[in-house]
Amino acid sequence: MAEKKRLLSGVKPTGKPHIGNYFGAMRQFADLQQQYDSFVFVADYHALTTPHSQKNPQEIREAIKDVVRTYIAIGIDPSTTTIFKQSDVVEHTELAWLFECITTMPYLMRAHAFKDAEAKNKEISVGTFNYPMLMAADILMYDPAVVPVGRDQQQHVEYARDTAEKFNNLYGATFAVPEHIIIEGAAIVPGTDGQKMSKSYNNTIPLFASDEETLKAVMSIVTDSSGDVPANVYAIHKLFKTEAELAPIYKANKGQYKVLKDALAADINAYLAPMRKKYNAITDDEVKKVLADGAVKAKAIASAKMAEVRQKVGVSL
Ligand code: ADP
Ligand code: TRP
Repeated sequence: MAEKKRLLSGVKPTGKPHIGNYFGAMRQFADLQQQYDSFVFVADYHALTTPHSQKNPQEIREAIKDVVRTYIAIGIDPSTTTIFKQSDVVEHTELAWLFECITTMPYLMRAHAFKDAEAKNKEISVGTFNYPMLMAADILMYDPAVVPVGRDQQQHVEYARDTAEKFNNLYGATFAVPEHIIIEGAAIVPGTDGQKMSKSYNNTIPLFASDEETLKAVMSIVTDSSGDVPANVYAIHKLFKTEAELAPIYKANKGQYKVLKDALAADINAYLAPMRKKYNAITDDEVKKVLADGAVKAKAIASAKMAEVRQKVGVSL
């Protein structure tokens, strides 16, 4: 049998995972795990670029465990997929440094995330500025064929591709140039206010909330008063039922936003119930064991890769 191609992706531990993270990115990790040799990780060093995170070590700790629990609850099998934590594989930050040395400031200044922060006059840390280089290191370290991410991460994967090419040109073929996978249709999940769902906009529907909390979040979905179909409600509903299933419901309840929201909340809760049950059953010890096993497997690849890289750049004598 031919060897499986590799898949790699990661999620930052910043707050509660939401249905945007699930449909936009994380579900793909579970769906693709049999087809690929899969590596999914917790991008904890990336999370530290957020000023809020720096003041809350305990919150970060909890958020890291939350990402691992989420991975397992949505069906990622730790015996098939390597689940690890970025900070456990120190080679990532080492490789990021080498990439920073072959990358120019104007190139990084074109990153959307940097431009947004600058437009908002935010104080930008060097870590935030270099974010794409650490992400390139995360990716290129493992020579993945595919990197499934949400649409907003597409540019970052482009940076990784460019960086692979730049390094290979300078030092000879070292890194594979990866593709990214974005599921069409579910690419951007809207939040309760109609903007992109995001922890930073306070407009999320969390994956692992109670039925009551879910209902409350759904009731807060902004509905404009024009038209029979509340667009924001429908856009989220489509993720849980097919348009054919939704047509009679929306036809029978034209303009009745409260009834439609009740139906949406019930569908979300029914869909997520099995995952929520699994999530609540995972212990801290299990999480630590999964990460410890994953670190060993990831580290084996990363240390071999870095031995090659150090040789190529000339620091190994
Ligand atoms: P957030 O914006 O809530 O902080 P992250 O930046 O941590 O989310 O994103 C984690 C993953 O989930 C990324 O791959 C991202 O592309 C995906 N993602 C986040 N929000 C959405 C959304 N609203 N729709 C689709 N994918 C999303
Ligand atoms: N930047 C990604 C996000 O915000 C997380 C991430 C870090 C990542 N390193 C990665 C995703 C490598 C894919 C591959 O969601």
